Amino acid sequence: MTLAFDDVVCGYGDTVVVRGVSGQVQPGQALAVVGRNGVGKSTLLKALAGQLPLTRGRISWNGALLAGTPLHTRLGLGIAYAPQENVVFGELTVADNLWLHLNDRATSRYEELFALFPLLQRRLNQRAGSLSGGERKLLSFTRTIGLQARLSMLDEPTEGVQPENIDRMATAVNRRKADGASFIVVEQNLEFVAAVADSVIVLDHGEVVLHGRFAELGRERIEQHMVV
Ligand SMILES: Nc1ncnc2c1ncn2[C@@H]1O[C@H](COP(=O)(O)OP(=O)(O)O)[C@@H](O)[C@H]1O
Ligand SMILES: [Mg+2]
Repeated sequence: MTLAFDDVVCGYGDTVVVRGVSGQVQPGQALAVVGRNGVGKSTLLKALAGQLPLTRGRISWNGALLAGTPLHTRLGLGIAYAPQENVVFGELTVADNLWLHLNDRATSRYEELFALFPLLQRRLNQRAGSLSGGERKLLSFTRTIGLQARLSMLDEPTEGVQPENIDRMATAVNRRKADGASFIVVEQNLEFVAAVADSVIVLDHGEVVLHGRFAELGRERIEQHMVV
């Protein structure tokens, strides 16, 4: 199933943030959305996830228009979303954060992920609020990957995460891609982008300034657009 978005315009109230952005991601592929702080990456992802109405444009999933489909309905369609902020419930345990939204307590869906991130398994009975910022991002990432969605949208999943665990996050994403799942990843960490992305969109002031296959664009050209 392919997610395609075309001429997306959105923002907050009268303020236009995303100005006509198009792109698509196919099964087994990852699209990275990169750019400096404040250029509209999270705003675009919120719109793709159904958290923000479109001022203009179309989003389709497997050919069917998604406009107006709320987030919880999108989950049923196989689309998951991990926002940049407010990623875990601090008062709940790590285990409750992982299983809260599921009907079963089966550990099988997290087994491979616990092998990659043993710290989460060790802390299953601790309050999520006792984790560091990076560990909470890792928990949010693990919960999202565990959903085994057809498409996962991740907003800066590696923010504050230790380098060793960032490599393992890339491993987890690439395993899911090998199973045919797709990803849209907002990222500042080009190491992670290089490890997972097939194609990339570079945003500046809400517009696409560069897009194409990651390997063809090359890291240096992408980096030039991210210098403050
Ligand atoms: N909830 C909001 N209400 C009003 N403006 C917002 C809101 N969230 C973000 N913005 C503004 O939208 C612009 C883009 O923000 P954002 O999409 O978060 O950028 P990025 O994720 O690329 O850092 C910024 O100028 C930011 O201040
Ligand atoms: Mg952001």
